[in-house]
Amino acid sequence: MNKTLTKTFILLLVITAFSCKTESNNSNANTSEATTPYDAKVDSLMSLMTPQEKIGQTVMYSGGWSVTGPVVSSNNQKFIKEGSVGAMLNVYSVKGTRDLQKMAVEETRLGIPLLFGYDVIHGFKTIFPINLGLAASWDLEDIEKGSRIAAEEASAEGIHWTFAPMVDIARDPRWGRISEGAGEDVYLGSEIAKAYVKGFQGDDLSKHNTILACAKHFVGYGAAQAGRDYHTVNMGMDELRNVYLPPFEAAVDAGVETFMTAFNEVNGVPATGNKFIFRDILRDEWGFNGFVVTDYTAINELVMHGFAEDRKHATELAIKAGVDQDMMSSANREFLEELANEGTVNIALINDACRRILLAKYKLGLFDDPYRYCDEQREKEVVYKPEFLEAARKSAAMCSVLLKNDDETLPLDKNQTIALIGPLVKDKENILGNWGAAGDRKGKAISIHQGIQDYVADSKIIFAKGCEIEGDDASEFGQAISAARRADKVVMVLGEDYDMSGEAASRTNIKLPGRQTDLIKAIRKAVPNKKIILVLMNGRPLDLSEEDILADAILETWFPGTSGGYGVADVLFGAYNPSAKLPVTFPRTLGQVPIYYNMKNTGRPIPDHDPHEDYKSHYLDTPNTPLYPFGHGLSYTTFEYSDTEFSSKIIGFSDTLTVSATITNTGDYDGYEVVQFYVHDKVGSITRPVKELKGFQKVFLKKGESKTVSFELSAEDLKFYNLEEFTVEPGVFEIAIKGTSDFDFEQSFILE
Ligand code: GLC
Repeated sequence: MNKTLTKTFILLLVITAFSCKTESNNSNANTSEATTPYDAKVDSLMSLMTPQEKIGQTVMYSGGWSVTGPVVSSNNQKFIKEGSVGAMLNVYSVKGTRDLQKMAVEETRLGIPLLFGYDVIHGFKTIFPINLGLAASWDLEDIEKGSRIAAEEASAEGIHWTFAPMVDIARDPRWGRISEGAGEDVYLGSEIAKAYVKGFQGDDLSKHNTILACAKHFVGYGAAQAGRDYHTVNMGMDELRNVYLPPFEAAVDAGVETFMTAFNEVNGVPATGNKFIFRDILRDEWGFNGFVVTDYTAINELVMHGFAEDRKHATELAIKAGVDQDMMSSANREFLEELANEGTVNIALINDACRRILLAKYKLGLFDDPYRYCDEQREKEVVYKPEFLEAARKSAAMCSVLLKNDDETLPLDKNQTIALIGPLVKDKENILGNWGAAGDRKGKAISIHQGIQDYVADSKIIFAKGCEIEGDDASEFGQAISAARRADKVVMVLGEDYDMSGEAASRTNIKLPGRQTDLIKAIRKAVPNKKIILVLMNGRPLDLSEEDILADAILETWFPGTSGGYGVADVLFGAYNPSAKLPVTFPRTLGQVPIYYNMKNTGRPIPDHDPHEDYKSHYLDTPNTPLYPFGHGLSYTTFEYSDTEFSSKIIGFSDTLTVSATITNTGDYDGYEVVQFYVHDKVGSITRPVKELKGFQKVFLKKGESKTVSFELSAEDLKFYNLEEFTVEPGVFEIAIKGTSDFDFEQSFILE
């Protein structure tokens, strides 16, 4: 029978099966999973598939359009035509994806379409601020909107699936991937995880502008020892259950369709072979029905971990742990059939994996039209839409954290002459950050220089690079000093190279690299009374203890993306009143790390009256407090908090407590304030953090305006894992509504 006739016959079979709606007694059925409208179709298709074709769905190869891991050669096209590939990553554009899709659909026996995945982490072509910056906006709506835009662009270029959001809690600035997440806090990280999933997946995956999301890296990746990427992760159940798992559960609650394994081991068992986290927790406890993909070559790495004897053993361990698809190890393709034939791996496990992957393809509508994401006209219309670039500009402004602003140094006056100094002033490459996806690192991005030129005539800008990001060369300090002397104010744009954070980019020194701090010192010495504004572009919390002394104002812009120059200039000149708050603690020194706001009290906390009292938990050479705490961020105006009121001072387990406070804009600028709601469970069957964020609201207040902001709290919100179960325990809870995590509690309520 010729190929077309076979295909028609098969298609008829699939349609017939679906219209019969008979209860499938197919040996492939996996009754442990929720039913979907596609079950009959999947059952019918799987009944036609050979074991090799089923295994093919569990295989993913890289197309090499981006390099996101060790390059492993593979003859992708040969394997695609054999029906031995289910998904490709690192291929995009209508033409690029369509060419490979045609091979899968028109040159294989069953014509099962490929999934195309890509790292659309904070934008596809229009790049938004890095995720740590987006988290600083505390604006869930804007985060969802940005990922919606990313999905619009990516889907217009053939992408069905993004390997995002990265929801790893991170509390160690040495770790380069702290740049990709939402920082140190469970509640903020969980809320942001939900926003990303909703943005990427939209409300209907069958629409051609929605893409699968992927919660990664499950689990504990951000707790790598010494902040060294891929390093060992060892933590107690308290931390695993109360800190690192919750954002992933939030992603499941938001309907995330896929998960990705972490490279690291978790308490001795590498994630990619870890049954406890993937079967016991993810599937059995949380009821996750999507599919699990490994990280890049992670199955092979079970051998290097010393957890598998060889790649065949690694393949067995991975699928038994609950992994469905193999990214770039080539292990499933090479060993799964043999493992099934010898009875080491039950074919039911292969069926489960294949089914979950086919379901995702049905949900995307790829069986109805495998080329529905390959529309040249849409590609031309959607990518870099002006409203997308405008949205990225607004995000850049909303993500910039005003860390310091002595004597109202900012906002700048357009009529003053500005010395614009630093290696990142004219930068258009690093500004996109580490996961620049298909963003244009040369032409499209707007530098800080260009942004400022939008406000100030060239005649009033004196540029001097001063030094490089890295290196020992101070030969251009003189030009920078001369520029500073001729200007009214000095704006220095300093920071990191974009590849100093991100994957495999840990640092043992978190100060500004190269001679940048020396450059500030030289400028300060030359113009002791002139206002110096430090604008930072970096992918992690830095040790700014010297810069905090030398600069009059400090604006943390992270890597602000394609429209970053415009957005940052909007803040510098007051068109946007900064409202961002730190999602992660900035230490005084690396020696304090890990340091985060919601630590435990210990049995010997330092007393307020004497931080140096003997036999207390402190350092000899540094205060316990950070340089800038979680939740910190200034505005050009000021906000006053008063009248915190409670609906009751005592609540039962079925009651809801309402707590409210009045916030007043007491300054001269209209602006947003991120109102934060903290709780402290004073006594528990295990020790509890000294404070926990349990809510936040971003409110706009005109100057002089007051608003009452209320939060509701129920016993459910106070649940935690006490080493035996998730529960809530009666007792006294301190409570506060503030604009930062840096405060002492003054009020409490009782839960009984
Ligand atoms: C990388 C990263 C992961 C990414 C994947 C595909 O190694 O760890 O976050 O999604 O490979 O590029």
